[in-house]
Amino acid sequence: MGGLELETLPWSADHYLRSGVTIPPDGYATLRSFDAILVGALGDPRVPDNRHARDILLGTRFELDLYVNRRPVRLLDERLCPLKNRSRADVDFIVFRENTEGLYVGVGGRFKPGTDDEVAIQEEVNTYKGVNRIVRHAFEAALGRPRRRLCMADKSNAMTHGHALWQRVFAEARKDYPDVEASHLYIDALAMFMVQDPSQFDVIVTNNLFGDIITDIGAALQGGLGMAASGNIHPGRTSMFEPVHGSAPPLAGKNVANPVGAILSAALMLGHLGRVEDARRVEAAVEQAVQAGEVTRDAGGSLGTREAGEAILKRL
Ligand code: IPM
Ligand code: MG
Repeated sequence: MGGLELETLPWSADHYLRSGVTIPPDGYATLRSFDAILVGALGDPRVPDNRHARDILLGTRFELDLYVNRRPVRLLDERLCPLKNRSRADVDFIVFRENTEGLYVGVGGRFKPGTDDEVAIQEEVNTYKGVNRIVRHAFEAALGRPRRRLCMADKSNAMTHGHALWQRVFAEARKDYPDVEASHLYIDALAMFMVQDPSQFDVIVTNNLFGDIITDIGAALQGGLGMAASGNIHPGRTSMFEPVHGSAPPLAGKNVANPVGAILSAALMLGHLGRVEDARRVEAAVEQAVQAGEVTRDAGGSLGTREAGEAILKRL
């Protein structure tokens, strides 16, 4: 890409298996020295506990404080939607997933592991600061969209401590955004409505784990995990962009993986770098290639990864 200086870092399962190092001690400082990070899919059966993926992906989210996980759900072609009679306009929303706390913080422990008396505790952490910044970020994003609708999803009917905090923050924040049509759904109902009638959604904000789950549903609405892009963002700071999909070891090296999620993630990255026009051009090229059916098999085409990438490139 013109005007961008690219550097490749070797951190991967191969690197971990060879060196025992997932990310070097100064790794996060190295990452911070860049304007943006584009990360490939992680996960490898040779690393059963996925330590490298956890350290690199979750580690970077935490260490660089990338509190916004922005996951657009946009249907690029009606054929790709698994729902009946849905148009492109029916599937066009953004999920903002809290990305630095919740059930992902790793607080907890196991007592008497491996015995019949085993106790496993995994704590969910919700802080005022953490909830407030993601909720307000989502309100700001909703303001910038034509429909100006925001839905906050939690499970405050069952998780009466942590999610009461989400309720409090949401009630406070909505007063500051009178131009946004704000609503609330319990996460289980939201999952149902995403399938039943996704057209009602414009911007969704939710916690880390719920966001993880519903963005896989979101990926399905767009045509599968291969299509979905994401940004792990701290506004104004080094941020990390990655396809929503993980790795697919059985596909490795066969030229069959769908490159769209990764390319749309690069477009999100360009937008974050202030190159909004370039981001739009990449998105338009992807859209045209997808609509022309010049895609990989998972998206109903017949091209290989390389050819699908070229089909996009030639439209740029
Ligand atoms: C995602 C992934 C990760 C997550 C995994 C690989 C830890 O599913 O980015 O959605 O749960 O956040
Ligand atoms: Mg996920």
